[in-house]
Amino acid sequence: MIFITAATGSIGSELCRLLAGENIPSRVMYRREGQQTRFQNLSLQAVQADFDDADSMQQAMQECDKLFLLTAPDQKHAEREIAIIDLAVSLGFQHIVKVSTANTNQSSKLAYARSHAQIDAYLRNQSIDWTILRPTGFMQNFLEYAHPIGKGILPHMLGEGQIGYIDLRDIALVAKHVLIQTAHTKATYYLTGPAPMTAAQVACELTTGLGSAIQAVNQSEAETRKALVYSGLDAWHIDALIEQFKIGANGGEIDVTGEVARITGQAPRTFAQFVSEYKKQFLNH
Ligand SMILES: NC(=O)c1ccc[n+]([C@@H]2O[C@H](COP(=O)([O-])OP(=O)(O)OC[C@H]3O[C@@H](n4cnc5c(N)ncnc54)[C@H](OP(=O)(O)O)[C@@H]3O)[C@@H](O)[C@H]2O)c1
Repeated sequence: MIFITAATGSIGSELCRLLAGENIPSRVMYRREGQQTRFQNLSLQAVQADFDDADSMQQAMQECDKLFLLTAPDQKHAEREIAIIDLAVSLGFQHIVKVSTANTNQSSKLAYARSHAQIDAYLRNQSIDWTILRPTGFMQNFLEYAHPIGKGILPHMLGEGQIGYIDLRDIALVAKHVLIQTAHTKATYYLTGPAPMTAAQVACELTTGLGSAIQAVNQSEAETRKALVYSGLDAWHIDALIEQFKIGANGGEIDVTGEVARITGQAPRTFAQFVSEYKKQFLNH
C-alpha cells in the first residue's frame, strides 16, 4: 500500500488521479475536514492527518509500505520531513520517494535548496530504499502571474537566464513509475521539461497560446519584492523566491535532462502544450 502525503497539493492530486486510474492500492492523506470528498470518486483510501501532529501521522501510515513524501517548504521543512522519514522507517516502510528540488546545496543562499539538501542527505543514509526526484521550476508557477499576463505583461527578474521548466503533471507521472517499479531504488533523478527557456521565450509561447500579445518585462529586485509583498507572501518565502530568481538570472539552473522520457516512456510536455491545456485558468484568473 502506497501512502501519499500532500495528496491535496498540485503534484499529489495528479499522482492520486494516476494511481486511482490504474487501481494501485494507495492511501492518501488530507488535513482539513471536507477535503476527503475529492478522493471519493477516485476510490482511494483517504485518511486525515497533519504533518505537525506525530500521533495522527503514526495512525495514518499504519500498514503501508511505500511513501510518497512531499511537504511545502517553510522554516520547519527539514525537521518535518526528517520526522516523517523516521516514522516511515520505524513502521517498516520499504521505499520512500521524495520530491526535492534541482538546486539542492547545503550551503546555498536559497533556504529550500538547503533544507531539501539536508533531507536528501538524511534519506540517503537510511537502510531502506529511496528515490529522490529533483525537478526544476514548474510551468504551473506562471499561473501565479495570470493577472498581469491578462494585462499583457509577464513580470520577471530572470534577465536572459534559461530554465528548463517542467509541467508538474510529468513529475507526478515519474513518481507513479518510480513507486510501482523496482528499478529506481537508491537513485536521484533531475527532472526537467524539454527545452531551456528565457522569460522572453515564455512570453512568446503565452502570446501564441492565449492569442493576445504578452511582453516579458524585467523588473528590479525592489520592484519584484514589492509585488511579492503585495501578493501576501511572508518574508521567508519572499527572500527564498528572490534568491531563486537570482540563481535563474545568473545561469545557475540545471541543464535539460531526458529523465522524464527515459523513466516514463513519454516525452515531457512542452510549454505550448501546458499553455493550451491551462488556457482557461489563465483567462479566468
Ligand atoms: N514550484 C516549483 O517550481 C518547484 C520546483 C522544484 C521543487 N519544488 C518542490 O515541490 C514541492 C511543492 O510541490 P506542490 O506544488 O505539489 O506542493 P503544494 O501544492 O504546495 O502542496 C502542499 C501540500 O502539503 C499539504 N500540507 C501543508 N501543510 C500540511 C500539514 N501541516 N499537514 C498536512 N498536509 C499539509 C497541503 O495541504 P492543503 O491542501 O490542505 O493546503 C498540500 O496538500 C516543494 O517541496 C518544493 O520545494 C517546487
